[in-house]
Amino acid sequence: MAQAFDISLDSLQGRSVAKPDAAGRGAGDPAGEASGTFFLETFGCQMNDHDSEKVAGVLASRGYQQVASPDDASLILYNTCSIREKAAQKVFSRLGEYRTRQKDGQIIGVLGCLAQQEGEEIFERAPWVSLVCGSASYRKLPEMIAQLEEGNRRVTGLDTDTDETFETEITRRDNPWRAFLTIIEGCDKACAYCVVPFTRGPERSRTHESILKEVRELAELGYSEVQLLGQTVNSYADPSPKKLRFSDLLLAVADVPGIRRVRFTTSHPRDFSRDIVEAIESESKLCNHVHLPVQSGSSRVLSAMQRTYSRGEYLDRIAMLRGAKRPIAITTDIIVGFPNETADEFEETLTLMNEVRYEGVYSFKYSPRPNTASLAMGDTVSEDEKSRRLAALQQRQREIQTEHNAALVDSTFDVMVSNKSRRENRWSGHTTCNRVVAFTSREPDLLGTYIRVRITDVGSGSLTGEHVS
Ligand code: SAH
Ligand code: SF4
Ligand code: F3S
Repeated sequence: MAQAFDISLDSLQGRSVAKPDAAGRGAGDPAGEASGTFFLETFGCQMNDHDSEKVAGVLASRGYQQVASPDDASLILYNTCSIREKAAQKVFSRLGEYRTRQKDGQIIGVLGCLAQQEGEEIFERAPWVSLVCGSASYRKLPEMIAQLEEGNRRVTGLDTDTDETFETEITRRDNPWRAFLTIIEGCDKACAYCVVPFTRGPERSRTHESILKEVRELAELGYSEVQLLGQTVNSYADPSPKKLRFSDLLLAVADVPGIRRVRFTTSHPRDFSRDIVEAIESESKLCNHVHLPVQSGSSRVLSAMQRTYSRGEYLDRIAMLRGAKRPIAITTDIIVGFPNETADEFEETLTLMNEVRYEGVYSFKYSPRPNTASLAMGDTVSEDEKSRRLAALQQRQREIQTEHNAALVDSTFDVMVSNKSRRENRWSGHTTCNRVVAFTSREPDLLGTYIRVRITDVGSGSLTGEHVS
């Protein structure tokens, strides 16, 4: 579905290949320890994207040079996702492609959620792989790579029993203005359908001191927008004695000189407390956008999903957000066809959408996953019925978005310019509420700047405008 919102959770199914020339700032100087080259491909969510930035930074600091093609690499790393079956299947077909191109001595490593989930099974299914490492073990990557260089054939990092976070001085960021920053890793929730607690281990929060230190460094490097990341970012629990609340952390990050926008994703409804809304109300640098996945509009289904809130409790959080002094855009994730979801229960999801009137929705067909509680419930809704529900939901959301967007014609937004189109005088960027706006301007160089854009034309999934002074 076309999205005017860029919560980049669309990268759940997306793929990114970090460009060796895109990073520059923030990368440490090569220490000259190794002379190898690496190629790094990433699938999955923003946390995976950011993990890859950190992995690239660590390798660059060890003297590895990042290259744009696997053919030129001595080390091919593949950071994977296993949130749905399709994502997992993709990994093995890609590993097959790497095999056909593999050269003598070339090392292939699998990182990320599928690596954690499948573990040594990956060596069975793809014997040409020599490294399997989940995100909870990335701190040990340099040692593992050293072992491979010494001639070890198979190396694994699969421990999730950890209280460590993957912090590194040397992160290679792929966007020069907007920086990701993981503040809490792992997940302690137990949603019945979800692999993340198994693939990313238990929740581990960084100290607020270490987060603020990194934000200050980012600001000094010229980043003006930071996006705080966590699978349940608002479950952040500061391990330092001061025990800063999540909302206080948001305010402290916004207070760092040079920072103009602060975003955070993904919030869990259970821990979404009033102080977060109050922080947004009081500090305009905290962006007008909250991603609050609901998953279903039926309390019966929510309970079977083990989401720990009812429809009514979720709607209370929404009322809090909609009642804020500043308008806050709300986006969500929804799963259709969870085991035993009836047609009536699906209707409840549609009525919830009518009540909330989301500014954006990411919707998925239920996919049974290994290790999860819902695996035992079967996959009772047929593929056809899942498709029907998904199409109905997306149609409804298109209508709602068209109505939202129609109301925006002639309004003016602050846009952070992040992209120059090949077409002359065409640019695009993000509003504080994370809407993507394409616009015209005759200015020669706007990238990374904040400008005013008046909306001239809208569709269900797009906003078009012009630069105004
Ligand atoms: N931590 C976030 C989201 C993690 S995964 C949260 O708690 O909301 C992103 C989205 O993928 C989820 O919100 C959910 O909508 C979807 N998803 C997760 N597991 C899934 C599964 N087994 N089948 C279909 N969709 C799934
Ligand atoms: Fe998965 Fe639930 Fe954790 Fe989100 S909160 S990562 S959906 S288990
Ligand atoms: Fe995928 Fe792992 Fe993210 S399963 S969605 S890459 S946390």
